[in-house]
Amino acid sequence: KKVVLAYSGGLDTSIILKWLQTEYGCEVVTFTADLGQGEELAPAKQKALLMGIKEENIHIVDVREEFVRDFVFPMFRANALYEGLYLLGTSIARPLISQHLVRIAQETGADAVAHGATGKGNDQVRFELSAAALDPAIKVIAPWRLWDLTSRTKLLEFAEANQIPIAKDKRGEAPFSVDANLLHTSSEGKVLENPAEEAPEFVYQRITPVEKAPDTPEYVEIGFERGDAVSINGEALSPATILARLNDLGGKHGVGLLDFVENRFVGMKSRGLYETPGGTILLEAHRGIEQITIDAGAGHLKDSIMPRYAELIYNGFWFSPEREALQALIDKTQEYVTGTVRVKLYKGSARTVARWSDYSLYSEKHVTFEEDAGAYDQKDAEGFIRLNALRLRLIAARNARVADK
Ligand code: ARG
Ligand code: SIN
Repeated sequence: KKVVLAYSGGLDTSIILKWLQTEYGCEVVTFTADLGQGEELAPAKQKALLMGIKEENIHIVDVREEFVRDFVFPMFRANALYEGLYLLGTSIARPLISQHLVRIAQETGADAVAHGATGKGNDQVRFELSAAALDPAIKVIAPWRLWDLTSRTKLLEFAEANQIPIAKDKRGEAPFSVDANLLHTSSEGKVLENPAEEAPEFVYQRITPVEKAPDTPEYVEIGFERGDAVSINGEALSPATILARLNDLGGKHGVGLLDFVENRFVGMKSRGLYETPGGTILLEAHRGIEQITIDAGAGHLKDSIMPRYAELIYNGFWFSPEREALQALIDKTQEYVTGTVRVKLYKGSARTVARWSDYSLYSEKHVTFEEDAGAYDQKDAEGFIRLNALRLRLIAARNARVADK
């Protein structure tokens, strides 16, 4: 038996690696993705080697550009937010990881893939729905649902017994459940499990607390082409570079922090702390450029399907016909979403302050409060309002009639 494991090099997946070898009795191939989580990947390789994985069975892949270009940017064309707030930083990375797991399984003749997501969460669903969609025959091993290491304590005991090093967080305790990539860092568990308590500052991984953010604002200009960011301050940059630069800027100014209790797909509510500095700027800027380049009809239509689109991504249905159909609609609306947005960053906020485009639908001639030289006849509004009011009048008349009885 051969299995491809999504291996971060962290504590949990190291335990899983060991467990797959010793308890489950299978040959392990590891896949470690550089998603821009800001960690060195060399230690993951060293650890895998130490646990007896052969060099040719260790796959370390830099997927940063692919992640931003093929997953993050398409999602941002939709301005996707789950339950109105969450920018889906973990959700959108899962289909990409699954895609590589399945590819490596096919290339190495493995019949299964394995992941380190718990049986309580969303991530298991995302990994496994994606894997099923990409290879109907692939098996999935989810050790969290199989083993008897049912508590943090038992897990740490297993780690100690197997000489697996245990990393400590900033306070010298075993860490939170943290998931990081170029789009965000999410923290769940431990002190965060009580939603009535404010999250302490030591939980923050990449955002400067607003109180400590610079006292002077900073402007950033983001150029868009067909809905995707292509430049910063006039400099053309790759997708991953753009997101990385916006992360630095947003992090510095305290932008993109979210404390949120969400509904997991499996049924329970969970509280998490999300840090999405670059993504928060990007969302604001994308909305800014859409304001002048998208028609009201197309814009309102895409806004109305956004919650559904976001829910599909949250629930793990990236590789589904309905997500693809919505994507086609969204992409069509982005045809002229080309231009530049100036965003002002200051003490936790990112606000659009200017936007311009060769494809702008904005017409100063029509909207002006000054003389419009015959561009618009105000008398046209009279009939427009009269017909729109007709059914409201009929209802009001009916109501008055009924009330008289
Ligand atoms: N609750 C978030 C989501 O479902 C983040 C999950 C993060 N995963 C983790 N292992 N901490 O997208
Ligand atoms: C987990 O890592 O399994 C919990 C987080 C989630 O998947 O929602």
